[in-house]
Amino acid sequence: MKQAGGRNESTSQTASNVWHPTMGTPRNIPLAPLLVTLLALGLFTPVTPFTLADLQVDNLSSQTVLNISYRSSGDTRLSGPIPTELGGLTNLTTLVLTQHNLSGGIPPELGNLTGLQYLDISNNSLSGTIPPQLGRLTSLTHFQLSVNRLFGSIPAELGNLVNVTYFELSYNGLSGPIPGALGNLTRLVDWEMHDNNLTGPLPPEIGNMASLTIMALQTNQINGSLPPDIGKLTNLESLSLYQNQLSGPLPAELGNMTSLKSITLWNNSLSGPIPYEIGGLPNLQQVFMENNTFSGDIPASIGNLTRLLFLGVSNNSLSGSIPPSLGNLSSASYLGLGGNKLTGFIPPELGNLPAMQSLDFSNNNLTGPIPQELANVTSLSRLFLNGNQLSGSPPPRLASLPSLVSLDLRNNSLSGVISPEFAARFGPENVLPGNPFLSVGTAPGPLAPPPLIPAPQPAVSAPPPAF
Ligand SMILES: *[C@@H]1O[C@H](CO)[C@@H](O)[C@H](O)[C@H]1NC(C)=O
Ligand SMILES: *[C@@H]1O[C@H](CO)[C@@H](O)[C@H](O)[C@H]1NC(C)=O
Ligand SMILES: *[C@@H]1O[C@H](CO)[C@@H](O)[C@H](O)[C@H]1NC(C)=O
Ligand SMILES: *[C@@H]1O[C@H](CO)[C@@H](O)[C@H](O)[C@H]1NC(C)=O
Ligand SMILES: *[C@@H]1O[C@H](CO)[C@@H](O)[C@H](O)[C@H]1NC(C)=O
Ligand SMILES: *[C@@H]1O[C@H](CO)[C@@H](O)[C@H](O)[C@H]1NC(C)=O
Ligand SMILES: *[C@@H]1O[C@H](CO)[C@@H](O)[C@H](O)[C@H]1NC(C)=O
Ligand SMILES: *[C@@H]1O[C@H](CO)[C@@H](O)[C@H](O)[C@H]1NC(C)=O
Ligand SMILES: *[C@@H]1O[C@H](CO)[C@@H](O)[C@H](O)[C@H]1NC(C)=O
Ligand SMILES: *[C@@H]1O[C@H](CO)[C@@H](O)[C@H](O)[C@H]1NC(C)=O
Ligand SMILES: *[C@@H]1O[C@H](CO)[C@@H](O)[C@H](O)[C@H]1NC(C)=O
Ligand SMILES: *[C@@H]1O[C@H](CO)[C@@H](O)[C@H](O)[C@H]1NC(C)=O
Repeated sequence: MKQAGGRNESTSQTASNVWHPTMGTPRNIPLAPLLVTLLALGLFTPVTPFTLADLQVDNLSSQTVLNISYRSSGDTRLSGPIPTELGGLTNLTTLVLTQHNLSGGIPPELGNLTGLQYLDISNNSLSGTIPPQLGRLTSLTHFQLSVNRLFGSIPAELGNLVNVTYFELSYNGLSGPIPGALGNLTRLVDWEMHDNNLTGPLPPEIGNMASLTIMALQTNQINGSLPPDIGKLTNLESLSLYQNQLSGPLPAELGNMTSLKSITLWNNSLSGPIPYEIGGLPNLQQVFMENNTFSGDIPASIGNLTRLLFLGVSNNSLSGSIPPSLGNLSSASYLGLGGNKLTGFIPPELGNLPAMQSLDFSNNNLTGPIPQELANVTSLSRLFLNGNQLSGSPPPRLASLPSLVSLDLRNNSLSGVISPEFAARFGPENVLPGNPFLSVGTAPGPLAPPPLIPAPQPAVSAPPPAF
């Protein structure tokens, strides 16, 4: 069963409908109700394989709209090849044959439909290569061949479709490089070629696609580095390039893309620093850059992103300490910094995050105490601090956080005594292992209520047992 719903995948690219690897795959987004059939041609009795005679329409050649979508309730799926005679219906402005079982190649004759403005033959079983003749369809505004079995490379002639605003080739087996000529598509708004086998670099000409709002090229084998020209895409809201083979540094010109809401670059081989300029993108809502080899500090400027919801930079080589400015991320609900080389203390400022749900600082080299202030984050549901060198006692008030369901403190240098209630709530197996000086018991001294005024961490820690 092949993947359906390429169009829906595209909506998932907008930042209002956010997702993340840790939240399940974007392809789980359900298909919208199937398009219903527009019987533009009167009575239509589909048979298989599909021929134009099946349309039973007089004056077929004068028709301007042919919109035959499979309807789940009762319609027959058209199968067999697209009739080449369709290329003779030269008055067509709309051709929609979607959600069927059409097979065979795309007839080059379709390139004769030079008045065509809307072409959607997606969600079929079409195979073969894309005919370069389709580049003659210069009136097209909508071009959609997604969810088929097309292979071969993308013809440079498609760069002639200068009026196209929607261009989708996703979920095929297309290979070879992205033609630089696509940079001529200066009116293109939504560009989707994800889930193919495209190779080669992103051509610098893409910087000419001045109207672009959505760039969805994820899950290909695109390599090379991001061209600085990408910074010219000042209308781009969603930059989606995850699961490719991109390498090299991110260009500082990223900071010119002030419309960006979503940057998803996980599972590439990108390296170098995260540009400081990222903090100048006022609309940014989600940044997912996991599984690369980014290095250097986490830019303090990220703290300026007051609309940011998700920041995921786990599994890179980031170093330095966590910037206290991250405590200004007033909208953020996810901060994933795990699997890096971060050092220093956890900033107490992070206790100011009013919307935070999930903090992952695991597997770094963080030192010092777990700040008492973290227990102020009442929305917190997951806190992963395992695999660091944190010391002192876990703040007892963590056990009072109403939403905290998952706490991992293993493999640190924590010490002292946690209450039986604390251990029971989070599971001793998630707290004690790898912290040889930490135990469960009744803490010495006054138990509750915990001090409201922050005391220096060592003062509230029980002394480690002497060896
Ligand atoms: C095709 O028909 C369907 C069902 O009536 C309609 O929703 C869709 O907008 C039509 N597409 C075009 C391009 O006219
Ligand atoms: C196509 O449309 C034009 C203008 O409406 C009309 O004159 C012509 O007869 C049509 N062609 C066919 C084959 O019907
Ligand atoms: C799809 O078409 C193939 C032949 O092209 C046929 O064998 C198959 O039964 C068709 N499937 C459906 C669901 O119509
Ligand atoms: C239509 O397209 C085909 C293939 O591209 C071509 O051979 C043929 O001459 C064209 N027919 C007309 C009437 O233009
Ligand atoms: C593109 O669209 C414009 C305005 O919508 C129109 O004037 C122009 O002829 C179109 N270009 C082509 C090649 O169809
Ligand atoms: C991409 O290529 C690989 C190997 O060449 C192949 O196994 C895989 O099925 C291809 N993917 C698609 C979507 O065609
Ligand atoms: C289209 O792009 C190619 C390659 O980038 C370029 O050489 C050509 O001049 C462009 N054509 C137009 C009409 O802009
Ligand atoms: C784009 O970014 C670069 C590097 O940050 C900068 O030098 C340049 O002035 C910017 N260009 C525009 C048009 O803002
Ligand atoms: C990151 O890479 C590792 C190793 O290749 C892989 O197991 C993991 O699933 C990747 N993470 C994501 C979010 O894809
Ligand atoms: C962004 O944050 C940095 C460091 O936190 C600060 O120095 C800078 O002035 C801020 N820039 C803007 C445009 O707010
Ligand atoms: C953490 O720091 C120690 C000593 O400072 C060092 O030996 C170790 O390699 C570091 N671990 C990581 C994951 O960077
Ligand atoms: C945050 O936590 C600290 C230390 O636990 C405490 O003194 C402070 O009052 C708290 N602030 C708020 C706003 O709850």
